[in-house]
Amino acid sequence: MTENYDALMALLESRHSCRSFAPDPVDEKALQSLSDAFALAPQAGGGGRRGIQCRFVTDRAAIRNLAKRGQEAFIAFCQSIPSPFVREQTARYGENFFWFGEAPALAVVSCRKVPVFLEKLAGDRAHRIWGGELSAAMASFSLLLAAETIGLGACCLTGPLVMWHEVEGLLGISKRDTLILLIALGYPQA
Ligand SMILES: Cc1cc2nc3c(=O)[nH]c(=O)nc-3n(C[C@H](O)[C@H](O)[C@H](O)COP(=O)(O)O)c2cc1C
Repeated sequence: MTENYDALMALLESRHSCRSFAPDPVDEKALQSLSDAFALAPQAGGGGRRGIQCRFVTDRAAIRNLAKRGQEAFIAFCQSIPSPFVREQTARYGENFFWFGEAPALAVVSCRKVPVFLEKLAGDRAHRIWGGELSAAMASFSLLLAAETIGLGACCLTGPLVMWHEVEGLLGISKRDTLILLIALGYPQA
């Protein structure tokens, strides 16, 4: 095998989700490196028409508030479930959704919504043809690998989307876009 392949495999093997971060901030240079990696991924439609976007939140109070408000909304939702069994299972399922309040940075990955003409053309297959979510996923993986190369820990999060209305509102996601995932970022806790 080539050196490049070995290096890639070493990188893939060393990457793991990180959920516990040191308090150190993630500086602009590191975030720029992640952004650059994100931008180089293949994209359906090419030319940025899917509006794949990655922006970073580094305001600690805003990250804490997002996790807290999301968790509160989720608890309220759980309390509204009449069946004790389903309520308990749902609450347990949600334990991995809103732990990211102490992450020093959050990548917010979004893409443009499927256009109406495509929905008319392809119905519930439209989002697969549009490819916005897949493109965002590919770019997010490039970001994860870049994070690994610069010693940053990261964890993808789609769980918070369970309270998408609350979360998209707090993050100021525009009406023409849809939130795909969050990525918690920071230097791993030693
Ligand atoms: C699309 C996606 C969504 C995820 N959502 C969550 C989540 O909401 N909460 C969480 O703690 N981990 C989440 N993860 C992380 C996975 O649990 C993790 O990648 C998986 O357990 C494999 O572990 P590894 O990343 O260390 O290889 C998500 C991962 C992916 C790819």
